[in-house]
Amino acid sequence: MTKLRAAITGVGGYVPDYILTNKELETMVETSDEWITTRTGIKERRILKGENQGVSILGINAVKEMIEKTKVDPKEIDLLIFATVTADMTFPATANIVATAVGATNAFSYDISAACSGFLFALTTGASFIESGMYKKVVVVGGDKMSAILDYRDRTTCIIFGDGAGCVLLEPTTEDVGVIDSILKSDGGGESYLHMKAGGSRMPATHAPVEARQHFVYQEGSAVFKFAVTNMAEVSAQLAERNNLTADDIAWLVPHQANKRIIDATANRVGITEDKVMMNIDRYGNTTAGTIPLLLWDYEKQLKKGDNLLLAAFGGGFTWGAALLEF
Ligand SMILES: CC(C)(COP(=O)(O)OP(=O)(O)OC[C@H]1O[C@@H](n2cnc3c(N)ncnc32)[C@H](O)[C@@H]1OP(=O)(O)O)[C@@H](O)C(=O)NCCC(=O)NCCS
Repeated sequence: MTKLRAAITGVGGYVPDYILTNKELETMVETSDEWITTRTGIKERRILKGENQGVSILGINAVKEMIEKTKVDPKEIDLLIFATVTADMTFPATANIVATAVGATNAFSYDISAACSGFLFALTTGASFIESGMYKKVVVVGGDKMSAILDYRDRTTCIIFGDGAGCVLLEPTTEDVGVIDSILKSDGGGESYLHMKAGGSRMPATHAPVEARQHFVYQEGSAVFKFAVTNMAEVSAQLAERNNLTADDIAWLVPHQANKRIIDATANRVGITEDKVMMNIDRYGNTTAGTIPLLLWDYEKQLKKGDNLLLAAFGGGFTWGAALLEF
């Protein structure tokens, strides 16, 4: 029997209008445009403003754009997966809210929580449903409203993250394109370095954790940096090697946008030159599960059929992984 693969047949994205620049951050915490630019590569990030605006708004706009571009009938969507750590509510899943809002009334839907690796985890999951022959149209969304869980008094975290979401449509193909291979990893030992302590079932919302500012992102930046550099680079190299791909065979590296120095280290390890590295960290910062689909969205016009894309991510959990796509 011919092997089914999951091809990417549509891409969508959305970033909110408000631009939070490094200059504005200088007025909020003790930092400088120069420090942020040289240490991270970030110049500005987008922020979703307004009351009652959850991450679903970002996802809905991204999926609607994809639907408009591809002309896919939303009623034909079988499954919608939303990777996020900033769900609108603990439950229901944000994926359900998005699916209903875009008219995907025949889809079932659920969220995946894998922080910055969320999109890769969701992509591999969605692709598996297509490859098994079970479903024909799967939408994979990755996005976060990081501004909702950032402490704008903590200069070590608030300068890094931003809000945004992107999505892809997966459909079956018998051609040798689409999601070819992936390596996904998790290590719960990373919990102490990067987490949000309060608001879950271990430490439900009460005055005490709010006063202790434990409902915000906590990160030991330099420790996370070391894990990210090693693991993201290693898994990318492993995936390329096991698919017999040299740097010349890879059209684009699509790395999670956490820090330009981590991206450069990953590119070096795989031997990929800077002109083949997708990058928009300067404009959006780290949108957690949103970075990889937002790169695909930004670079969509430059992609050609048959291009090999090496996707790589590292994030809270710890979680990390790489995926190989033939566009
Ligand atoms: C957070 C990060 C940018 C910090 O950069 P760094 O080079 O590691 O900096 P350090 O944490 O070692 O801090 C160096 C100094 O800069 C200071 N500093 C931290 N944030 C600052 C800021 N926004 N502005 C100015 N100074 C700052 C620190 O207080 C420290 O000062 P000290 O030497 O007087 O103690 C970097 O560690 C990083 O990107 N980590 C990984 C993030 C990531 O990948 N997350 C996972 C995916 S979500």
